[in-house]
Amino acid sequence: MRVKTDIIFGDCAEVLCHLPENVVDLIFTSPSYADQRKKTYGGIHPDKYVDWFLPISKELLRILKPTGTFILNIKERVINGERSTYVMELILAMRKQGWFWTEEFIWHKKNSYPGKWPNRFRDSWERLIQFNKSKKFNMYQEKVMIPVGGWAKTRLKNLSDVDKLRDKSKVGSGFGKNVSNWLNRDKVYPTNVLHLATECNNKNHSATFPKELPEWFIKLFTRPNDTVIDPFMGSGTTNLASRRMGRNSIGIEILYDYYKGVRDQIEADELVLFEPEKKYETTGLNNECYRVRRE
Ligand SMILES: C[S@@+](CC[C@H](N)C(=O)[O-])C[C@H]1O[C@@H](n2cnc3c(N)ncnc32)[C@H](O)[C@@H]1O
Repeated sequence: MRVKTDIIFGDCAEVLCHLPENVVDLIFTSPSYADQRKKTYGGIHPDKYVDWFLPISKELLRILKPTGTFILNIKERVINGERSTYVMELILAMRKQGWFWTEEFIWHKKNSYPGKWPNRFRDSWERLIQFNKSKKFNMYQEKVMIPVGGWAKTRLKNLSDVDKLRDKSKVGSGFGKNVSNWLNRDKVYPTNVLHLATECNNKNHSATFPKELPEWFIKLFTRPNDTVIDPFMGSGTTNLASRRMGRNSIGIEILYDYYKGVRDQIEADELVLFEPEKKYETTGLNNECYRVRRE
């Protein structure tokens, strides 16, 4: 089956307007954080972040299929000793825009080196906020099951009577557990915390996420031949993972060097037929858009 990878040079706020509606199965992205890493690719002032992002999320809502999912990797920074509130404000604003805030995953950066500041410790996790168009969306939970682990040997050896019944949640969450359900199983579902090391080897981009991060969500929310988009492509981690996993993908990047870096990698993949095309016209930017396709 043919896998398409469309790598586009431009501002996603403009490029997205040229994509058709309801075509994408998964949006997986990590936009520039507020005011961070200004030297490398700019930053948005925290007070302006929501206003900057809402026109983009409006287009993302339009291009996402009704069964699709949007995963937003973001973390509010500390300004003047206080955590900024722009991520919370963004979630509220996106709900008003029509998004359904389904879930929040945590990426625990398990290789963070120690550190201490006068009033806080090393920041060692980031949010992955899940938005959908409605409560019903595609999710392939079996694809991310994990080995049951050593706890099962001891915990399941001598089951009490309570373990054999559905034990109601003590905090009233509505979630119950029946421990005996896990007898004789070698795989279980994971939690919403992902323990992954940060990516330190990418010399071309200062903010790459590890390839396992998009891979996990691509497995969970898409099937082969579905379409994934990363509107803030960077070094193309999402697109390269999508490609390896047999998913079509679109990547948009505003900085030419990053865009070219990904394009070169895809060209180097010898199965690629490279075909420059003025496919997506963008306004106000004197750039060329390219379509890179594997035949
Ligand atoms: C946090 S980085 C993404 C890194 C990426 N996840 C990776 O693994 O390499 C955000 C990227 O978005 C790009 N960017 C910022 N504003 C953009 C915009 N309006 N349209 C497209 N790309 C943009 C930046 O140049 C930067 O490369």
